[in-house]
Amino acid sequence: MADIDVLRDVAPGVMPAYRALVASGELYSDAAQGMAAEKLQSLWVKLRGYDPQPKAAGQNGWVGKLLRRKQVDEAGEHPNGLYLVGEVGRGKSMLMDLFFAAADVPRKRRIHFHEFMQETHKRFHKIKADPAVSDPIPPLADMIAAEAALLCFDEFQVHDIVDAMILGRLFEALFERAVVVVATSNTLPDDLFKGKPGRDAFLPFIALIKKHLDVLVLEAARDYRRERVQGLRAWYVPANRYADAALEEVFGELTAGVPAGPESLYVSGRKVVVPLAANGVAWFDFSALCGVALGPGDYLALATHFSALLIDGIPRLSPDNFDEARRFVTLVDALYEHRVKLYASAAALPDELYKSGEGAAIFERTASRLVEMQSEEYMRLPHLT
Ligand SMILES: Nc1ncnc2c1ncn2[C@@H]1O[C@H](COP(=O)(O)OP(=O)(O)OP(=O)(O)O)[C@@H](O)[C@H]1O
Ligand SMILES: [Mg+2]
Repeated sequence: MADIDVLRDVAPGVMPAYRALVASGELYSDAAQGMAAEKLQSLWVKLRGYDPQPKAAGQNGWVGKLLRRKQVDEAGEHPNGLYLVGEVGRGKSMLMDLFFAAADVPRKRRIHFHEFMQETHKRFHKIKADPAVSDPIPPLADMIAAEAALLCFDEFQVHDIVDAMILGRLFEALFERAVVVVATSNTLPDDLFKGKPGRDAFLPFIALIKKHLDVLVLEAARDYRRERVQGLRAWYVPANRYADAALEEVFGELTAGVPAGPESLYVSGRKVVVPLAANGVAWFDFSALCGVALGPGDYLALATHFSALLIDGIPRLSPDNFDEARRFVTLVDALYEHRVKLYASAAALPDELYKSGEGAAIFERTASRLVEMQSEEYMRLPHLT
């Protein structure tokens, strides 16, 4: 993470990497993070060379058969994973990324949990379409376990009854296949899917998570994300080179030295190109975002994937550029609903962006949301994925 040079000559492992970043001044020393790093370090040690062998075709029964490796004891047990939970900006993703980068596991995968679930549903339906398959879960679990013996999930969360229904059996099958799971979340396992219809049927999944993952509440001293951009405004007017420089600074703080580059998101099989992204933060020029044929699904994908978005060059909007204005309204709704933090440079303040003509009434709500999105309260809300 952070500054690659700092980590170049450091001993392998999470703890040495964390210490080096603190020593270099890239990170503040934080006792709670230090404890979490130690916990991850002990998992890192247990997982050195972890490579459970996937089931050969036609073989039955996993436990006892699949693993001869030292990491899995005779009872077929494998190390518990870790569920890192805490408030926003505490460094959960940062620590998990250090762990993931250091993990000496030949087959490992780090993925945003929301994307994992989308991919999983697609695969599930594809397998289900095969009349020869009576139960899609075992082949689906085989597929996932063959790709990764270590799965790191960022922003673990369950909103959806369809997810909730599939998760219990899928995770049971993954744990049987010796997959180790590390996750970050803003929600304690006991609070997952709370208050939703169908919660009772979901409880065995919570029990399963608590059995196979150690839960660690990361009570870091501060919201480091907020702190890094404290004093930096969110809305810059006009969109000139001073605004550009300010957005550069925001981007630098939010990405904390993680190298940035273009990224692609796949939405219903289509590719949406993100010009610049790193560490869950994306940067777009207004015309690349609202001047092209993107729709609600694309904006929703951006809003779930990225916790912060920078947009430069928002122009004044009017009936003359109605398509752009309409897309911008849809975009802001998606960002607002998912509590994405928005930083922008614009020709005017939100209330002045769309003054008159057809559509001005609709824009009132957008302007009001844009104002709210600059508040301290909004900035403190967790990203909803
Ligand atoms: N000890 C620290 N000193 C300085 N910066 C830090 C420290 N810990 C984390 N950060 C930075 O603070 C920002 C937020 O950290 P991170 O994204 O890991 O938080 P998080 O706990 O995953 O938050 P969320 O729940 O919103 O996903 C990142 O840019 C990260 O690099
Ligand atoms: Mg995070």
